[in-house]
Amino acid sequence: MCGIFAYIGKRTDAPEIVFEGLKLLEYRGYDSWGISYIDKQVLKIEKHTGKIGSSKLSKITKTNIALAHTRWATHGGITDENAHPHLDCKNQIAVIHNGIIENYHELKLKLSKNNHAYKSETDTEVVSHLIEDELKTKGIRQATFDVFMSLNGSNAICALDKNSQSIIACRNGSPLVVGFDEIKKQYFLASDVPAFLKYTNKVHFLEDGEGAEITKDGIEIFNIKTGKQINAKIKTLDWQLEDAEKNGYPHFLLKEIFEQPKTILKSSLINKDAIKKLAKIIKESKKVILIGCGTAAYCAQFGKYLFAQSGIQTEIYGAYEFKPFAKFCDKNSVVIGISQSGETADTLIALKEAIKYGVRTAAIVNSRGSTMERLVDLIIPIGAGPEIAVVSTKALTSQLATLYLLSKASEGKYLQAKKNIQKLSNKLSKWLGNELSENIIKLIKKIEHNEHMYVIGKNLNYPAALEFGLKIKETSYIHAESFTAGELKHGVITLIQKGTPCFVLASNDEVKNEVLSSASELKARGGKIIGISPFESPEFNDLIKTPDMGELTIFGNIIAGQLLGYYLGVSRGADPDKPRNLAKSVTVK
Ligand code: G6P
Repeated sequence: MCGIFAYIGKRTDAPEIVFEGLKLLEYRGYDSWGISYIDKQVLKIEKHTGKIGSSKLSKITKTNIALAHTRWATHGGITDENAHPHLDCKNQIAVIHNGIIENYHELKLKLSKNNHAYKSETDTEVVSHLIEDELKTKGIRQATFDVFMSLNGSNAICALDKNSQSIIACRNGSPLVVGFDEIKKQYFLASDVPAFLKYTNKVHFLEDGEGAEITKDGIEIFNIKTGKQINAKIKTLDWQLEDAEKNGYPHFLLKEIFEQPKTILKSSLINKDAIKKLAKIIKESKKVILIGCGTAAYCAQFGKYLFAQSGIQTEIYGAYEFKPFAKFCDKNSVVIGISQSGETADTLIALKEAIKYGVRTAAIVNSRGSTMERLVDLIIPIGAGPEIAVVSTKALTSQLATLYLLSKASEGKYLQAKKNIQKLSNKLSKWLGNELSENIIKLIKKIEHNEHMYVIGKNLNYPAALEFGLKIKETSYIHAESFTAGELKHGVITLIQKGTPCFVLASNDEVKNEVLSSASELKARGGKIIGISPFESPEFNDLIKTPDMGELTIFGNIIAGQLLGYYLGVSRGADPDKPRNLAKSVTVK
């Protein structure tokens, strides 16, 4: 949570560069934002509450060094004062931060003896004052490194020093990546690559315990503890500039929904060896556990059904609930983390807990260079490209395609599964288009004023229903509750009233008739039944028809929910890319 972005180079529009780049990091938090830059030897600062999207910089200043931050509040309310950057008493250092400084009270108490003046209620501000003290006896790099070593918790900080005209960054548990454009002699530091993808795709992902010093002459990487310089491991990413832009779509969310035929296909073309290797580990293991949070936890639920079809029993946990069960794992267990970002604190903590019991670990992750990638024994990158909208869409369907390939690989049917995904991609690209959007918009007109909606499904369509409901809740703030068709009679049916929208997710499978019976029970209580399925039924008052793809029908059913959530959100005036209170990557406990 919180986005960090910094620039040093030959260009003199550094404040605009970081301001524009910050917009691409807003998915990390958008309570408030701020920037700092050096203007004629004076450290300037500008901070605002609210989203950066519709804002403008109050003044255009020519300078070649700047940093910027978008905040997801943890300590202190959403105010201009609490927005980052935070300065020291001498206005020499501007600090931005991502994470939680667990011992900031103690550090602040120690500092108060030295009469520092605080302007905010944040944990971050203590860092600028600590650096101020350290600077009395050492240079900015050593001062920042020493202060960083005294912080407890998962943190990334970035300090702009007016005197040396340099930026110092440190990482422990919160992501940071540096970008090199040696041709134009410009250098970047960010929480995530999209912020600077427009300028360069040559990156070094900082490891925990690594720091960077960035000046107009380049970037140097150091071991924070020893102070020794380390060679940068520069990778050239295959991401394109268009991956970080809207390309004519009104929102990233819509663009990412429409990208799915392509991204699902891509996920099926990579990772053959890693999938086969993990399938072998799964077959050898006595216990197979899938974990994740949010949409990724629902993805784990899909995995449970897919593996069951392949004859493999799995356990699934929301990663935040895994700890009490970790003790039942041992070296014959494999724990697979599922995550878009690879940075979700709860999933990382669960994996670390599992590692204590000697398990084998793997992760199915979208972002590159993540903490999870470094933590596990085997990584399966899903290759969906940067996902900028806060709610997850293309990352989920690529994770799901990967789990499908994995489950089929464990029965020796990898090649057939790959062909099935390719067929699915074709069908989806024909289906996803204006006609579908128009049908969904027409449907929305009939239901958008309802504050409660219900979603049912069974077997593979149960996690699809959970995800469908989540998309509606996240993007439109309508209460959409999902449950299994089987649960309906056991209590929840009391909630159905005349005209209550009830989505029924179904496929042409062996439970189709059971699901239709549940639909009929809902209808008998006055529910307005909206079928999400490849077939028509007299039980349905309305139908969003999805491609008939056997067990892969769930892909269309999920995508219908994504589009419904999107158009409901737009029609109710919500911001589909940045739903209130959410952050894309929850890097705190
Ligand atoms: C947050 C986001 C969700 C996401 C979840 C897990 O809660 O709002 O959209 O599914 O984190 O994120 P991950 O990066 O681990 O998939």
